[in-house]
This record gives sequence, structure tokens and C-alpha cells, in this order.
Amino acid sequence: ETGPAPRLTVIGTGYLGATHAICMAVLGYDVLGVDVDPDKIERLASGEVPFFEPGLPELLAKALDSGRLRFTTSFAEAGAFGDVHFICVGTPQQKGSYAADLTYVDAAVTELARHIRGPALVVGKSTVPVGTAARLTELLHKTAPAGADAQLAWNPEFLREGYAVDDTLRPDRLVFGTTSAWAEERLRAAFAPVIAQGTPVVVTDLPTAELVKVAANSFLATKISYINAMAEVCEATGADVTGLATALSYDDRIGGRFLKPGLGFGGGCLPKDIRAFTHRAEELGVGQAVAFLREVDGINQRRRARTVDLVRELAGGALAGRRITALGAAFKPNSDDIRDAPALDVARTLHAAGAVVTVVDPAAVPNARRAYPELTYATDALAAAAGSDVVVLLTEWAQFREIDPHVMGDVVAHRRIVDGRHALDSVQWRTAGWDYRALGRP
Ligand code: UGA
Repeated sequence: ETGPAPRLTVIGTGYLGATHAICMAVLGYDVLGVDVDPDKIERLASGEVPFFEPGLPELLAKALDSGRLRFTTSFAEAGAFGDVHFICVGTPQQKGSYAADLTYVDAAVTELARHIRGPALVVGKSTVPVGTAARLTELLHKTAPAGADAQLAWNPEFLREGYAVDDTLRPDRLVFGTTSAWAEERLRAAFAPVIAQGTPVVVTDLPTAELVKVAANSFLATKISYINAMAEVCEATGADVTGLATALSYDDRIGGRFLKPGLGFGGGCLPKDIRAFTHRAEELGVGQAVAFLREVDGINQRRRARTVDLVRELAGGALAGRRITALGAAFKPNSDDIRDAPALDVARTLHAAGAVVTVVDPAAVPNARRAYPELTYATDALAAAAGSDVVVLLTEWAQFREIDPHVMGDVVAHRRIVDGRHALDSVQWRTAGWDYRALGRP
């Protein structure tokens, strides 16, 4: 028995926070979403999800209808309302450094702490350098009004964009970093329906909980770069990395997930998390322990350069004036997120080398155009490919996988394609007369 359900606030209604707030309301909690951006709050309150995430708009409508989800810009309201406060603000990479920028986390905890009425549990969900929770505990106690019995806990989040709803409602595991039995009991009460499904709960201390998150993302990044390193070796030997990956994947100890070779990882998490981890480990005097993460980053960057090389080779050795159709802008399919997107990195390099590049993406064009107005954009692949010298597939959207090589072959100037994601059937494309090239394959 965990007592009455706690009332939840979610501070920061970006990707993570909005998803968390909506899902918790759907699970039956009374939730208040808080953000300093009035525009974001207004859009969410009127039923609009400000980013692309399958299934989330429907759940937002349901949560708003139920009356269990509200939004505000007021920290005073948050302090008065909540028993458990989730901190979900961003921790981007600092400009000119590998370190994480903790300004938003510090500001959120400070603002909230001023208005807390105890007893309250403040739960960090943002990805932070290990040791941050200890510092925030001090900040919380220093800032909260006397008599407000506030505690800090850590509950890292492992959701993937594109699967955010499912990952939140049915996570692989819950990790609770706590310093008291009371905090653990509050967290168990805040996740009761998820725990009731049989979700494993790992209860641990604050630094371990912080580390789990970066250790997980570092492992995933390493796995991707491992197979991409094998792709480099394959290219030197005439071996085929896709066959290699398939053969490795049947070993249960290795497994096939996150072993897909190609253009490599991007997004708002994996790249910045491994860099922030490197930076933090160096600060702690254990830089050597994670020095390999610099290699992981380096392998990942080389895939982008190699993709540009393949396009140049197919274009006859020079890019200037060549018409290139770049399929994809988002860092992965089913997302409009372009943060550190390998696709746009490649497209911009091709453009800078003098190629005439048209970028095609079903969801990310508005974001891409805002960030890189110098590129040309389209949403229809066939129309964009008209007269094209080389087509390069950079993000494996289903729409692109389903392209008929005969139909596209009729509109391009030359049937040449670089498959940066191993998303196409090479036999089918070659049979249709295309010069098909892919990373790590003969
Ligand atoms: C990642 C983690 O997977 C989540 O568990 C974590 O919660 C999240 O970061 C985060 O820290 O918030 P996400 O960035 O949404 O999630 O995307 P992933 O699905 O992990 O893909 C990351 C990148 O790796 C993409 O660019 C994808 O194209 C690439 N990738 C993935 C590969 O190149 N090969 C693979 O086999 C798998």
C-alpha cells in the first residue's frame, strides 16, 4: 500500500517532459506541466504537441479531456500543486566545449525550490554529469523555504524518439536513485501502474542513477561505432558488413539491435552524452577509462566523410555543379529532430563542395530550413530527383525504402545511388540498372 496517489508536476515540457506529463496523466495521475516558454505552454494546453511523435497527439487530447492534465508557466502554482516534481529540462552541449550546459537544470531547481511547500520530492530526469544530483541537493536545501521538507531523487529516462509513448508506458526498467526510504516510497507511488505491470525497479544511490543513463547511451554509441569500424575494414578487403552484422547478430551475447551499420548516430542525445561523459570523466581524473569514447565519436564522424566520398566517386570525381538528391534530413526516421543529424551534415558538406543539393524529408523540412536556409528542400522524392546526377539515401524513412527503382530511374539524369543506411535492396536496384554503392559493401 503506497497511500494516496501523489500529484505530479513536470518542469520542462520539451520532448521528454511533454511525453512524461501526458503519459502520467493517461495513467491516472493529476499532472501539471510547467515551462518558462509561454508559447509552448499555450500550444500544449490547446492540444497541440509542438514536435513530431507518433501517438502523442492522441494521448494529449485524451489527457486534456480527462481534466487530469493542465499546463502553466507559474512556478508558484507548481510548488503549491505538486507532491512529486519531475525535472525534465534540457542539458545541451556547451558551445566550444564537450561539457554539458547545466543552466536550465539549475534554474528549474532554484525556481521550484523557492515555491516548494513540504514535504516534496524533486526528481531529476534530465541527463546530467555524475555528481550533479549531490550539488542540486545542496541547492534545493539552501533555496527551499524553512520547514519545507524537500528531498532530491534521480530517475533517469531511457525513451527513444519515435517510440516515446511506448517507452514511457512500458519501460524496460525503472531506476530510482534515492537517499531515503521515504523518497523510494514516493517514487514507487508515482510509478505504481508501471510497476504493477512487472517492470523491474533498480533502487540505488544518486551517483549510480546518474551514471546508468550515460553508461547506457555510451554502450549504444559504442555498439554502433563498432559495426561501423568493421565496415571500414570490410571496405579495405571486399567483405560485406551487412552479412557480417547478420552473422554476428545470431550470437545472443551480441544481438542484432544497434548493430546496424551505416551513416552512424546523431540526435540530441548519443553524440552530446558521450562527449559530456568524456569531459566529466577527465574532471574526475578517470579520463583514461573512457578514452575509447573519443574513438567512438571519431569512427562516427568518419562515416559522414566516407558517405560524401562515395557520392563524389559516383559523381565522377568532382561535386561542383552536380545535382544531388539527398533523401533524409532527420537524425532518424519517424522524427522531425535535426539535432546533430548525420543526414544534414552530409548534405551541407556536399553543398559546400559546390553540388546542387535538394534535401527531401517527410517531417523535418521546416526545422531543417530554419537551421540551414542555404539548402533547397522538398517533400516529394520523385519530384526532387528529376534530372539528378546522384541520389543519396541518408535517413531510412519507410517512404524511401518503398521507392520503385524503375520509376525513379525514369526521372533521374543518371541511375546512381549511395545507400547510406543499407535500407534498399541492392539486387533490386542493380537489376533496375542503377550503379548502387553502400558503406562497407563491395
Ligand atoms: C537514444 C537512446 O536510444 C535512448 O535510450 C535514450 O533515452 C535517448 O537517446 C536519450 O538519451 O534521450 P534516440 O536519440 O531517440 O534515443 O535515438 P536512437 O533510436 O537511439 O538512435 C540514435 C542514432 O543512432 C540515430 O541517428 C540512428 O540512426 C543511429 N543508429 C541506431 C544507427 O546508426 N545504427 C543502429 O543500429 C541504431
